[in-house]
Amino acid sequence: MSSIKNIKDFAKMKQSGEPITMITCYDYAFARVVSETDTDVILVGDSLGMVVAGFETTIPVTLDQMIYHSSMVRRGAPQHFIVTDLPFMSYHVSIEDTMRNCGRIMKECGANAVKLEGGKDFVPVIEALTRASIPVMGHLGLTPQSVHKLGGYSVQGKDEEQRKIIMDDALLLQKAGAFALVLEMVPEQLAKEITETLDIPTIGIGAGRYCNGQVLVINDMLGLNKGFNPKFLKRYADLYATSMQAIQNYCKEVKEHVFPAESNVFK
Ligand code: KIV
Repeated sequence: MSSIKNIKDFAKMKQSGEPITMITCYDYAFARVVSETDTDVILVGDSLGMVVAGFETTIPVTLDQMIYHSSMVRRGAPQHFIVTDLPFMSYHVSIEDTMRNCGRIMKECGANAVKLEGGKDFVPVIEALTRASIPVMGHLGLTPQSVHKLGGYSVQGKDEEQRKIIMDDALLLQKAGAFALVLEMVPEQLAKEITETLDIPTIGIGAGRYCNGQVLVINDMLGLNKGFNPKFLKRYADLYATSMQAIQNYCKEVKEHVFPAESNVFK
């Protein structure tokens, strides 16, 4: 059962020391499965552009796609706390444009909150959304929408200058009203210091053991994303191999006239 019903529960979990479990989800079928587990938060991540749609980056993902997938997830997990990622360029143009886009996410998918990538440049956006009662989860460290600026998907915050920027950004996001913060691909020690400094919880992916929670991409942790094997990832299943074997068995049985069997036919 999820321990999170609303944004106040995030702070409560940080205080109690119970780790927050977050997992991405993109459709109704998996949302039903996730909703029966101890997952606290479902993230409809723009990672769907890569693991579902097969793009090389998250940049092509549109607002309409995020709404489409989030509404499927909401139907599969009606009681869960759902965070929807704001896709690239949906919160960069102006506050007015951002408010309109986030209004659509809240109304059309029934999301509980939005997540956006970036630091101090997005403080005015976070303040405006928070004033409009749209809860915001921040995202620092490796911010995949900035892959072209960062020059790849590498660990962030390794030198003193970068560490200071990430720590300062974390404090600014908290002050602006963010209720939680994703830290992606940063050294464990930096994530620990940020976690100890902030009042809001941190949720890590590739950020070590001391965050207040963890998040993984569902396709990666279930082994559906063949060939993707970064150090931070733990695979809890091999659904690629299991699915392939099941489909292969089906093909074999059809070819050999074993399926459909007498038990599968209407009389
Ligand atoms: O898009 C996504 O799935 C994410 C997680 C990796 C945190 O932002």
